[in-house]
Amino acid sequence: MNLMVTRSVMRRLVTSRKVVLYVSTPQSSTMNVEVRPVDEMKGPGYGVRWQRMASSGAGASDGKETKNKAMPGTNKSNAVVEEEKKKNEVMDSTYWGIVRPKIVREDGTEWPWNCFMPWETYSADLSIDLTKHHAPKTLMDKVAYRIVKLLRMPTDIFFKRRYGCRAMMLETVAAVPGMVGGMLLHLKSLRRFQQSGGWIKALLEEAENERMHLMTMVELVQPQLYERLLVLAVQGVFFNSFFVLYILSPKVAHRVVGYLEEEAIHSYTEYLKDVDNGKIENVPAPAIAKDYWRLPKDATLRDVIIVIRADEPHHRDVNHFASDLHCQKKDLSKAPAPISYH
Ligand SMILES: [Fe+2]
Ligand SMILES: [Fe+2]
Repeated sequence: MNLMVTRSVMRRLVTSRKVVLYVSTPQSSTMNVEVRPVDEMKGPGYGVRWQRMASSGAGASDGKETKNKAMPGTNKSNAVVEEEKKKNEVMDSTYWGIVRPKIVREDGTEWPWNCFMPWETYSADLSIDLTKHHAPKTLMDKVAYRIVKLLRMPTDIFFKRRYGCRAMMLETVAAVPGMVGGMLLHLKSLRRFQQSGGWIKALLEEAENERMHLMTMVELVQPQLYERLLVLAVQGVFFNSFFVLYILSPKVAHRVVGYLEEEAIHSYTEYLKDVDNGKIENVPAPAIAKDYWRLPKDATLRDVIIVIRADEPHHRDVNHFASDLHCQKKDLSKAPAPISYH
């Protein structure tokens, strides 16, 4: 078991991008991992670089082996050991050796999320220009622009100024293009035995970032049954349409997404206005948002809208940039992709 745990951790060490991992002891199946910022990396999209300290207990941060508090039969009562066993019941019942080490914040509290890790969190870049707009010049641009304006009409009619619901619905759509584009570039890379220039990762990161917007919005707006059904229908239509569009013309597909992102900025700006003028209550920020965007403990809905809105122009820029590259007859793989550019 311990050998498998060690292998699992070492595998993660090898594949990890920004993480330094120290394993203190192979003697215990209970492993604590302390996460600490190591240094700051400058540039958009880069935040604190994290260091995970895997240890069997406190005081192992220098990488030396320390007293193993989790070892059964040492200084822990049977009740405590039993309690820990219950907590790890799912992991103990498997023989695959897959263990997710315990991760704690800087203040020592347990990291509660499995869907993202501390080293994937960031502070939003609020300095980005929200007003930038790609003026449609070519026929292709105009078609893409019209498609997005047409898509906005039913949204305006259906949601009116219910910006919480509107944002939630928007994010279920916004998280699709990055995944479709990333998937198709992935397949292209396999077919052509060719590097992607980082675009697969960039687009998948965008999809993940949009999904985190949705995970946050869903904490603020509990969707009704009819909204869930609407999401099913919209996703079915939008995924397939975008998939076909990306195959036929990635140039148009990226342009459409660029304009969709411009609309997203507009929607969040209107949402913010309604919070500021008291039409929407400025409730406390959901816990997931505080951790994902490193917001203060007393952060509110207003702060959340501001950081989500700051992500959207980054997606706008990436997609207009990708479309521009296609317009210039350049293969995306020849231009470096903006990784971690939220
Ligand atoms: Fe979004
Ligand atoms: Fe976006």
